[in-house]
Amino acid sequence: MADYAVVLEKVSKRFGDVWAVRELDLMIREGLIYGLLGPNGSGKSTTMKMMLGVLSPDKGRIIIGGVDVAENPIKVRKMMGYVPETPHLYDYLTGIEYLDFIGEIYDVEPEVRRKRIEGFLEAFELKDRGNELIHGYSRGMKQKIALISALLHRPRILILDEPLSGLDPKSARIVKDLLNKLKEDGVTIILSTHILEIADALCDEVAIMYEGRKIAEGRPSELREAAGLPGSTFEKVFLKLTGTEDLRSVIEALTK
Ligand SMILES: Nc1ncnc2c1ncn2[C@@H]1O[C@H](COP(=O)(O)OP(=O)(O)O)[C@@H](O)[C@H]1O
Ligand SMILES: [Mg+2]
Repeated sequence: MADYAVVLEKVSKRFGDVWAVRELDLMIREGLIYGLLGPNGSGKSTTMKMMLGVLSPDKGRIIIGGVDVAENPIKVRKMMGYVPETPHLYDYLTGIEYLDFIGEIYDVEPEVRRKRIEGFLEAFELKDRGNELIHGYSRGMKQKIALISALLHRPRILILDEPLSGLDPKSARIVKDLLNKLKEDGVTIILSTHILEIADALCDEVAIMYEGRKIAEGRPSELREAAGLPGSTFEKVFLKLTGTEDLRSVIEALTK
């Protein structure tokens, strides 16, 4: 399965009485930007945490880069970069101290990490703020630091949970450009979003999640066609079908 960065086979995860993820099959090819799209509570974050080995599935199997997560979680973790939805950084380190610390954990050589940190801070327009305490950073700045920290060890697979939330439009642009650049370099990017427009603009393929299940999958253009609106924006498909911000009806319409 060398061509697949991530494979999930009938993965299920339960919290108490709630099945957060149900019999989920995913096959994510290398080098794609792949979106998990769904409303809040549909199981996106849980799915990502299982890919990372942070949570174990109750049923099913997850293979990352040909390695079974349950058998070799450390090897898998080294292949991956992860930015959680709400990153917890160390408030009383400076941005540079924090990034240096994370780079060290991932065994990036001191000189290499110094250069990478400098380059990323520059790209994210944080160069002048790197020596300030994280405590004083805006939400968007913290998001950027978290993203840089996930990239320092040059992961093959990048997992981003709601990556553009909290970013101003300009920063969102920088992140979008960065993701496309990483894709060119062959990095597989898996991101979650509850915003159709983001999935449409960024993702090569999406899985639409609802109540822990994958209920539709394909390129955004294919999903548009399935909704009977080829050529229009994904957002328009959504609005035409629902007239509301509720994803339920669009999902029903897409899977009829
Ligand atoms: N640690 C947890 N303990 C109990 N329930 C959880 C936990 N994490 C997630 N859930 C539940 O699992 C379901 C899926 O959550 P989540 O994966 O966070 O969805 P999403 O990321 O799509 O918003 C929700 O019903 C949520 O309340
Ligand atoms: Mg989530």
